[in-house]
Amino acid sequence: MMLPHNSGSEAEAGQGPRLPAGSRASIQVCIDEPQRDRLLLSDVSSGLSSFPKEIPPKWFYDDAGSRLFNKITQLPEYYPHRREREILARRAGLIASLSAADTLVELGSGFSPKTIMLLDAMQSIGNLRSFVPFDVSEESVLRTAAGAVEAYGDLDVYGVVGEFDLHLGELPAEGRRLLALLGGTIGNFTPDRRKSFLNEVSGLLRPGELLLLGADLVKDSERLLAAYDDAAGVTAEFNRNVLKVINRHLGADFVVERFTHVVTYEEDSQWIEMRLRSDVDQDVYIPTLGRLIHFSEGEDILTEISIKFRLAQVRSELQSAGFEVVEQWMDDAGDFSLSLGRLVGNPMDKPVVE
Ligand code: AVJ
Repeated sequence: MMLPHNSGSEAEAGQGPRLPAGSRASIQVCIDEPQRDRLLLSDVSSGLSSFPKEIPPKWFYDDAGSRLFNKITQLPEYYPHRREREILARRAGLIASLSAADTLVELGSGFSPKTIMLLDAMQSIGNLRSFVPFDVSEESVLRTAAGAVEAYGDLDVYGVVGEFDLHLGELPAEGRRLLALLGGTIGNFTPDRRKSFLNEVSGLLRPGELLLLGADLVKDSERLLAAYDDAAGVTAEFNRNVLKVINRHLGADFVVERFTHVVTYEEDSQWIEMRLRSDVDQDVYIPTLGRLIHFSEGEDILTEISIKFRLAQVRSELQSAGFEVVEQWMDDAGDFSLSLGRLVGNPMDKPVVE
């Protein structure tokens, strides 16, 4: 189903479906399908010619992959999603009042119960003015924007379709913003990338604006391993789905059944690793690359790292990026965390945009 939207900030009349006239919503598309396919090709090209082989986790999430991830969040073994919702259910009001934000910017957003809890809390203290969902999927931004417009009458919605590593600069600067990165997505970034991401966000915000960061916590490895290797095999299917994405978008001929889902917990670096292990000696042809890729029996492709944090570590990393840590919360079991950081600095450094 296509939802009405403005295609691009300067969409012309009659060019694609739009949000109903009079609704205060628009969508800016920073990246289209062909551009994304070129990014996928370049990631696959460098990732599969390096040793060890790797494919970045952002390519999991086509429609099928997003559906599988949704299934993961409902698995008994996969606690992060439920724990974070538990924290938000209890603290959304406090987050809204401590931040005094009038604009929610959500990175990797859907119109999820967590988003709704934050928007509701901001609305009930009379602060809510606008909502900026940012996601790589146009479909998801559309659905989110349409849902928000319907649920909150006079809300300004400004959706942005883009990539974390390329388009954060496109986020609108209006209002007093609370920028949320939930779900533990920060755990997918390598330490270097995490640092550059936090610095980029702090460069984007004005002093006084806020970052709400969800981070999964270190715990015993048995529970971690189970969360990424569930009994029903949903995570295995999710992992293998990335090969189907490459088949579909790059015309490759991966036989996905010839790869096995492997999960390890690296105690030293505190992260889960997901890999796809080649069951046999095999070659895969990637036409847009114009060559065969060889996989030895037992050879792995690293598809995801998911870092587990300690509260003090999140705190000090936020501080290093220029935030003061307003508060940190955990669920009752101490499994997951939310941290609220406020950008410090001279308010005269950056002009306020009304
Ligand atoms: C969406 C990155 C937070 O790392 O837990 C879930 C992705 N991968 N199961 C995570 C994921 C396998 C998830 N994040």
